[in-house]
Formats: sequence, structure tokens, C-alpha cells
Amino acid sequence: MEISNLVSTTNNTPIANTPAASSLTVSEATKNGTLGAKYILVTGGCGFIGSHTTIELINSGYTPIILDNLSNSKPEVVERIKKITKKDVMFVKGDASNKKILTAIFEKFPITGVIHFAGYKAVGESCETPLKYYSNNLSTTTAILETMQKFGVQNLVFSSSATVYYAEAISPNGQVTGECIEGITPTVRPTNPYGTTKLIQEWILEDAARGIDFYPGITSEKARPLRAIALRYFNPIGAHKSGFIGEDPNGIPNNLVPYITQVAIGRLQQLTVNGADYPTVDGTAIRDYIHVLDLAIAHVKTLQYLENVDTGAMDSSPISPNAIRNNGTLFDYFNIGTGTGSTVMQVISAFMAATNGDIPYVVGPRRAGDSAVTYANTTKAQQYLNFKATYGLAEMAVDSWNWQKLNPLGIE
Ligand SMILES: NC(=O)c1ccc[n+]([C@@H]2O[C@H](COP(=O)([O-])OP(=O)(O)OC[C@H]3O[C@@H](n4cnc5c(N)ncnc54)[C@H](O)[C@@H]3O)[C@@H](O)[C@H]2O)c1
Repeated sequence: MEISNLVSTTNNTPIANTPAASSLTVSEATKNGTLGAKYILVTGGCGFIGSHTTIELINSGYTPIILDNLSNSKPEVVERIKKITKKDVMFVKGDASNKKILTAIFEKFPITGVIHFAGYKAVGESCETPLKYYSNNLSTTTAILETMQKFGVQNLVFSSSATVYYAEAISPNGQVTGECIEGITPTVRPTNPYGTTKLIQEWILEDAARGIDFYPGITSEKARPLRAIALRYFNPIGAHKSGFIGEDPNGIPNNLVPYITQVAIGRLQQLTVNGADYPTVDGTAIRDYIHVLDLAIAHVKTLQYLENVDTGAMDSSPISPNAIRNNGTLFDYFNIGTGTGSTVMQVISAFMAATNGDIPYVVGPRRAGDSAVTYANTTKAQQYLNFKATYGLAEMAVDSWNWQKLNPLGIE
């Protein structure tokens, strides 16, 4: 497939005819100073976390190429990223499970790494239509790995989730605490198909790192050892400071914060708090909320970590005891949270302060499969990725509300 057949911009113009992506061949990139920059394929880059990470990549000197089928996002996001960064952004509209499209991109650009966000993420929908979730989430990952193998691309950062942990996280002394620690807190079959796809995708990466698929000359002349990291996000909220991009769910939100902001803006009538009889300070469930801007930084730090693995340089990345290694391959996993939990009532209070108004709510029963307390142990990410979240709940609430206020109906 010719890359010129792919659609690249918001007006559906073929990539070869657009001023932004189009004309940017690799040799022309040299002239405008982007060669030498590292090309990173960002699947799902028009989504909530992908769009914020794309900005952070650009700010850190990378050249991202977004591949998104727009199943849960809008092409206008690309324009907004351009507006924020004042840079051209390459965008390919297409499916991340389509190996022809992936091959065309890898042939055209010297990709040095992939950040794989593309996937479906609605827990409730995954229970109703599990096959849709298994098909999309797993096929994108295998197609990306096969293309990386074919082209000798080594570095992959994968969007995993805290849902892989056993719902009532158990600490080393056997007590139920809600603290999730990598390699210690058990991961078991999650309570919904969405979570199961995340765990299976981690296993695919782990097995790929154990096997010989990525050995040079065995499956592909160009193959080089895979280096993959799964980031287990806790609860991303917040939005870009500009208010140009933020979480823009289709339909009724599944997550607490977009629900709250839509109540605050008047799109929804009231919030239902799922359970107020948990053994917590105010009876509502505790989660670890992390600002999407911190999360974006975590991705760049993870890429930098992977780039330094085994380089022989003085500062080569240290390897954690959890890592799977096999002749140069690497698979590892890290929690990305703040390490601090907040109750639903504390989140509501933070939004009342941010909006300077009331958030009407009713208390409903607990939701099946929800745990009382879940928060990240962040030691491993600090020690190996040099990542520590900086934003607190109050600022997350202010930024989420700023985005909602400026975009009452989301991106239109
Ligand atoms: N937001 C969260 O609370 C959260 C928590 C943990 C993990 N994650 C994971 O992080 C990733 C990004 O989450 P998000 O909140 O930004 O979701 P999102 O839905 O906003 O973004 C995902 C993007 O991927 C695109 N997409 C989906 N399937 C695709 C395919 N086959 N090919 C190309 N594009 C495709 C969608 O159009 C969307 O733009 C997802 O994998 C999600 O499961 C999210």
C-alpha cells in the first residue's frame, strides 16, 4: 500500500497532497531540521491520553506520527495539537490492526519507537460485546509487534491499566490494603473483558520478549531484540492547561470525572455515587487519580529509559528484578499513579471548589467488581524511570473543569 493512499488530515486529503504531513518526505525532513529527530508511531494519538502525550513528545524533540481510526476521537484533535505546539503533526487515519497501513508507515519513516494507546476502553461495553474488545485490543497489539519485528524496531510503550491487579490488593504481609505493588500484588483474571484484554496484551509482550521472534535473522533479516514496557495507569484525569484538549467521551461517560464535569456544565442532571458503605473515611471508594500531563511525561521518560537500555553508556538504564530478559530483549511493567488515593467524596469536593458550585449527587449501591481501595505503589517508576507525579487533586479538578467550560459539548 502506498502511503499516499492513506488519509492524513482533517479534511480527508490524501497524505501526498497535504501541506502538513504529506509533503514531509524523509529527505525533506532533513531540510526542515526534523531528521535526526526520533520518529515515534503513536497509535490512538487522537484520544485523551494519546493527544497529551503527542504534545509532550513534540516538546521533548520527538517527531510523532499519529495513527488513529477515530473510533473514539475526532480529527479536530490534530488541529488542536498543532495549535498548542505550533508544529505540524503527521496524522494517518487508519486502523492499527491493519498491517498494510503499518508497513506503509514504517517504510516511509524511520520509526524508532511505538507508543500503543489504540484500543477500546469502556468496561461496561466490554461486558456486553466482549468479542469486539478482544478483537480490537489484541489484533492491534499483534499487528504492531509483527511490523516492529519486520522492520527491526525495538522500543514499545504499551497502555496497560491498574485493572490487571486483583481487586482487593494484598500487601506483602498478607493484609488487604489496596496498595498495588508490581511483582507482589497478584494479577488475576480481571472482572471484565476490557481488563482481561489488558492482561493478555501484557502476556503477549512478555512472551514476545521470552521467545525468538525478535532474534535477528530468524523471522526477519532486520529483527532486533524487542524492548517493551507496559505502563499500568491508575486513574488519569485533568486536561491540557490551554483547555484545547481533554477527555471527550462519546455518549454517557463511564468514568467519574467526565461525569462530574458534565453534571457541572448541565449536560447531566446528577451523579450517582456507587456505594457509600466501603470501609473508608467517608464510605466511598478510593482511587489514585493522576493528571494526564504527568502521565504524558511518564511516556517520554519510559521511551528515554528504553533508548538507554544496553547502550553500554555510563548512564545505561538499570534493569528491575521483575524484567523478563532473553539475549537483549526486555519486558517490564510499571505503575503510573501518584501513590495517593482519594475518595469519591473528596473528588466531588475538589470539583465543587474548582467550579465554585454544587455537584448534585445521589448514593446508589456498590457496582459489581469494584474494590474499596486501589492506589499505586510508585517506588519502581521513581527508581527506574525517574518518574514522579507532580500534580495534586485540586489542580487536576481545575484543569478538567477548564476544559469542560471551554468545550461544553466536547470537541464539535
Ligand atoms: N483513560 C483511562 O482511564 C485509562 C486507564 C488505563 C488504561 N487506559 C488505556 O490507555 C489507552 C488510551 O486511553 P484513552 O483514555 O486515551 O482512550 P481514548 O478512547 O480517548 O483513546 C484511544 C484512541 O484509540 C483509537 N482507536 C481505538 N481502536 C483503534 C484501532 N483499532 N486503530 C486505530 N485507532 C484506534 C480511538 O479512536 C481513540 O482515539 C487505551 O488503551 C486505554 O485502554 C486508559
